[in-house]
Amino acid sequence: MIVLGIETSCDETGIALLKDGKEVLSSFTKTQMIHSEYGGVVPELASREHLNDIYNILDYVMNEANINYENIDLISVTKGPGLIGALLVGINVAKGLALVFNKPLIGVNHMEGHIFAAHLYKKDLKPPYIGLIVSGGHTLLIDVTKEGEYFIEGSTVDDAAGEAFDKTAKLLGLGYPGGPLIEKYSKKGNENAIKFPIAKMEGYKFSFSGLKTAVRYYVEKLSKEEKEEQIYDICASLQKAIVTPLVNNAVKLCREKRYDTITLSGGVAANGYLRNRLLKEASKYNINVVVPPIKLCTDNGEMIAAVGYARFMKGEKDDLNMEGNPSLKYPFRRRNEA
Ligand code: KG4
Ligand code: ZN
Repeated sequence: MIVLGIETSCDETGIALLKDGKEVLSSFTKTQMIHSEYGGVVPELASREHLNDIYNILDYVMNEANINYENIDLISVTKGPGLIGALLVGINVAKGLALVFNKPLIGVNHMEGHIFAAHLYKKDLKPPYIGLIVSGGHTLLIDVTKEGEYFIEGSTVDDAAGEAFDKTAKLLGLGYPGGPLIEKYSKKGNENAIKFPIAKMEGYKFSFSGLKTAVRYYVEKLSKEEKEEQIYDICASLQKAIVTPLVNNAVKLCREKRYDTITLSGGVAANGYLRNRLLKEASKYNINVVVPPIKLCTDNGEMIAAVGYARFMKGEKDDLNMEGNPSLKYPFRRRNEA
């Protein structure tokens, strides 16, 4: 069964062809660079870029796999959450293809895609395990109890981890997206140079807004020269302050549940320091860490095709009236929810 996956929820145009839910026949993701000069994703520009790129990417992916539209068995597209204009580009292309080639269509939840990314990488991965999803908009610790059953055990009360990287990078005048830049500067710095606060939260909650304020006050007190001199130490110390609670909570939860696996996904999973710290801490307790390659951690079409396949196999599908929902709820439940 061949599934075409289309992802356009934010600033990545991702398209992929997936065979039988696991084998990637071809895939291409384009990250929009246009936003870097604005210090964040500009929704209107994101929609226009998706529109400019999507047909070329579609052609490329189809040619690469040597597949005709007649051979596709299902079209899976992100229906939310995300930017409405951006979502609409992917959804309308998906609907057009479904109509013209008379193919089934399914709209899927982007966040479930991030969980599936780990399965695409580690094909024999089986629940139960703990999923840590860290992106520009979300910071979640998920208890994956069985296939398709997810509980939120931890989330952020304010900024997401990626947002913490992006906002502090902006304060430091480094540019956007902030995560890769802070990681790069950190490599030359001492992570113990400055003691930035790590919020003490109940349960497995996260909070990063205090850190952002602390960095702002710290930087305001420095002269231009001092800032230049200390920039590497500031980055290394704040990276440590963001990563430490992520690692500690994920490992603590995994131990509490007596599971043996943690998966990592979302754009922040590209951070090498986070990957290494998580691997090191987890190994102390014989916990395996599944870290997919970066192209599967950031937004991509493969994960959307994989979710579509799984849901279609359970009998779900949509019709051409399917609509995008920018604030689509998580496909994960809170423990106390019905
Ligand atoms: O998942 P993603 O591509 O998009 C969504 O937010 O859905 O994640 C983007 C986020 C941005 O906040 C970016 O700064 C962060 O991932 N990021 C990183 C790194 N690469 C991307 N954060 C820390 N270190 C990195 N190397
Ligand atoms: Zn995402």
